[in-house]
Amino acid sequence: MSEKISVLVSEKEVDERIEAMGKQISKDYEGRQVHLICILKGGAFFMCELAKRITVPVSLDFMSVSSYGDGTSSSGVVRIAKDLDESIEGKDVLIVEDIIDSGRTLYYLMDTLRQRHPKSLHLCTLLDKPERREKEVRVDYVGFEIPDEFVVGYGLDYAQKYRNLPYIGVVEGVE
Ligand code: IMP
Ligand code: MG
Repeated sequence: MSEKISVLVSEKEVDERIEAMGKQISKDYEGRQVHLICILKGGAFFMCELAKRITVPVSLDFMSVSSYGDGTSSSGVVRIAKDLDESIEGKDVLIVEDIIDSGRTLYYLMDTLRQRHPKSLHLCTLLDKPERREKEVRVDYVGFEIPDEFVVGYGLDYAQKYRNLPYIGVVEGVE
């Protein structure tokens, strides 16, 4: 069966928004170095595009997390599958995520990273589904607020497919 993807946010709209976010971040971090932490795998495409548009010095690190249980469990336990290579102590850290849905992953992650004593800790996401929130997380930079629909592209997958789409789309027929 072939899946149909309809465009929710076009390539041009995504590019323009990331450009604007890069400008804002450059302004907010003026005179400092920003340490970007990419949450793999979904955040990778967004982080590369964003980093290219930040004009203050940038350093990068990567982290991979997975949630225990399925979507129906509310344990909120998140496992770090790949931890950071470097210490974040004393750094101005900006987490770069693809999407915030229930908020469980970021709620746990922010708490964990805060205990490592960064100088500052902020959060940037390409997409936000506020309707789905179960855990309160303060998001500093949001690309687009989207409705409660399952989206793919720009790093986001459906069964590991479609991460490479240059736009944000909705897979038709997915619950
Ligand atoms: P949260 O802990 O529920 O906020 O989980 C966020 C994670 O779930 C994201 O980092 C994505 O990996 C995944 N996710 C949530 N919504 C979508 C979607 O619409 N498409 C693809 N992945 C999603
Ligand atoms: Mg993710």
